[in-house]
Amino acid sequence: MDFFKTTSNQDILLAKHLLEAGEVIGIPTETVYGLAANAFHSTAIEKIFAIKNRPSYNPLIIHVGNWEQLEEVALPFNYLLERITKKFWPGPLTVLCPKTKKISSLVTAGSDLVAVRMPNHPLTLKLLNTLSFPLVAPSANISNRISPTSVAHVLKYFDKKIPLVLDGGSCADGIESTIISVEKNQITIHRQGAISKESLESFGVDVVLKNNQVITSPGNFSKHYAPNIPMFLTDRPDLLYATVKHKNVGLLLFQPHKIFEDNAKKYFLSGINGDLKAAMKNLYHLLHTLEQDNIDLIIAELLPDFNEGSAINDRLKRASIKQFIFANNNIDLDEFTTFNG
Ligand code: TXA
Ligand code: MG
Repeated sequence: MDFFKTTSNQDILLAKHLLEAGEVIGIPTETVYGLAANAFHSTAIEKIFAIKNRPSYNPLIIHVGNWEQLEEVALPFNYLLERITKKFWPGPLTVLCPKTKKISSLVTAGSDLVAVRMPNHPLTLKLLNTLSFPLVAPSANISNRISPTSVAHVLKYFDKKIPLVLDGGSCADGIESTIISVEKNQITIHRQGAISKESLESFGVDVVLKNNQVITSPGNFSKHYAPNIPMFLTDRPDLLYATVKHKNVGLLLFQPHKIFEDNAKKYFLSGINGDLKAAMKNLYHLLHTLEQDNIDLIIAELLPDFNEGSAINDRLKRASIKQFIFANNNIDLDEFTTFNG
C-alpha cells in the first residue's frame, strides 16, 4: 500500500475514524511517538507487528485515557500500585499487572500480565477520551532502530505505510516510559525510562533494577535503539578520538568540552549546566541527526550515572557496539583501532 502519502495534522476526528476502522496511526506522547491501534481489534494489532517488523513474542503497552478505561484492561491494583499510579499518571510510567479477559494474548504475547500506562500528552489524552476502546502503542520506529521524538522521525520510517500521524510537536521527555511491577514491599524496574529510580524511592519500599532486555556486553552487537552507523561508548571520548582523527567522527558529548579541536563534529546533549532532563529530551533527536550527517562512526560519552543519566546511559549502551570504560582500568585501545583502523 504505497500509493498515498502520510498526512500529519491535529485532526482528532479523523484519527478516531481511522482507528475505528482498524487502521494504524502515529500518535504523540510525552515520551516518544507511538504507532497506535485499537487494543480490542486483532487485525489492527497484527498490522502493528507487521509494519514495525516486530516479532510476535514482544508484547505491546496499552494506553488508557482515564481510570474507567483502566478497569477494562487491568484487574484492580493493590494499595501501593494505586498510590504510585495516582502520583505519576498521566505520565511516563508503565505498570505490569494482571490483565482482564478483554485483553487478547496477542497484546501480551501470551502473558497473564499486561503493560499499561496513561500517557501525558494533551492531544493523545483527548483522542483516548473520545474512543470507546484503549490503544496499543509501541514506539513508532522499525524494530531495534532509534525511537521517534517528532513527526519527521515517524515519517522517516513510515511515510506511505500509515495514513496519519497526529502532530503533537516534539516529545517533552524524549525517552520511553519507565516500566515497573509492584510486589508486596518492592518496586521492580523492568525498563529504565523517563521516571528515575530515585523518584520511585520516595514510596519507602525497595526499588530493584531488573532490565528485561539484553545489555550490550563486549563483542556483542546489540541493535536496540541503534543508529545505522557504528557507535562506541566511553568515559574518555578524548582518548578514543585521538586514535581515529582521520575518520569522519561524530562526538556525542554530555556538555561542551574544551579539549577537542574546533573542526571536530560535536553534538551536545546538554548545555554547560549539564541538565540531565535536557539531555534526555535531546538524546534521540541527536541520534537521528547523527545518522543523517554523513558520519563514519560515533564516539559517545557516558553520562553521570544517576537520575535521568542512568536511563540515558542504558540507551547509549544498547545503541553501542562496544564500551571502553577507562575507569574500569582494563582498556585495550588496540581493540578500538582494530574496529576503526
Ligand atoms: O514510552 C513508551 O512506553 C512508548 C510510548 C509510545 O508510550 N512505548 C513503548 O513501547 O516504548 P515499545 O513497544 O517500544 O516498548 C514496550 C516494552 C517492550 O520492551 C516490551 O517487551 C515491554 O514493554 N512489554 C510490553 N508488554 C509487556 C508485558 N505484558 N510483559 C512484559 N513486558 C512487556
Ligand atoms: Mg520501542
